[in-house]
Order: sequence, then C-alpha cells, then structure tokens
Amino acid sequence: MENEAENIRLTVTDDELIEMAREARLAAHAPYSNFEVGAALLTSDGRVYTGCNIENSTYSLTMCAERVAVFKAVSEGAKKILKIAVVADHEKLTPPCGCCRQMIWEFSMEDTEVILANLRGDVQKFPIKELFPRAFDSSWLQLS
Ligand code: THU
Repeated sequence: MENEAENIRLTVTDDELIEMAREARLAAHAPYSNFEVGAALLTSDGRVYTGCNIENSTYSLTMCAERVAVFKAVSEGAKKILKIAVVADHEKLTPPCGCCRQMIWEFSMEDTEVILANLRGDVQKFPIKELFPRAFDSSWLQLS
C-alpha cells in the first residue's frame, strides 16, 4: 500500500458527516420496511457522497443507503473511502449489512472507519477491519 496518509484531506468533521447522513436519510424510499437509512462517506481527497436506502415493490431490488453512496462516489471517480457514516432511527446503532461491508471493503483504506449513529445522538465508531475480518478481496486474485 502506498503512503496513503500523505494525501488525505479531512474536509468535514465526523459530526458533520453524521449530519449529512441524517439529511440524506430524509430522501429514503422505504415504504415496505419503513426503515429509513442515510449514509455519507468521505473520500480520501475530501469529497463527500451521500445515499439513502431505495426499496422496490419486488423487494429484492432494494438497495442499501451505504451502497448507494459508494456507487455515487465510485461513479464520480472516487476510489478511497476514509470514513462512512450510517444513520437510522433505532435505539441500537444500525451496522452495514454483509453486502455493504464487502462493497465498502473494496474501496477502503488501511484505517477506514465506519461511524454508526442514530437520531438520539448515540454514536459508535468501528474500523472496517473490525467489522469485516478475513475479507475476500483482490489480493486473492493476484495469482503470480
Ligand atoms: N438498510 C440499509 O439501507 N442499510 C443498512 O445498513 C441496513 C439496512 C435498509 C435496506 C432496507 O431498505 C431496509 O433498511 C430494511 O432492511
């Protein structure tokens, strides 16, 4: 891994990122579960991308807030996630699902952090490495 720390731009605080995720949650389309989620991620070059969960009447096409944010970031050329905040209205803090952990991992850095928050102001932060141990990733595909 190249020296990633050198080029990092911390353009928002963790509290600001949580606030952006909270705001993104307001756009959630979750008429089936009524479980509205917002996410906001900060890329290593200082950009912020947000997402909300988008459900579908077929159910299985539902997309989580985290992956919406990742898709927006990557489709705009961002490849490194420094932090991602996830906000839901639940007394327990809502962690990313398995699919989202895999997707976040793909674009993670050494110290990528997942910030969980709810509407009551509870916050907990986890290194992605802790949430997603023994990950399958590109290192398995480098066969030489
Ligand atoms: N959901 C997310 O958007 N992110 C999570 O971290 C957990 C679950 C969404 C998917 C679905 O729309 C609803 O929450 C209930 O599972």
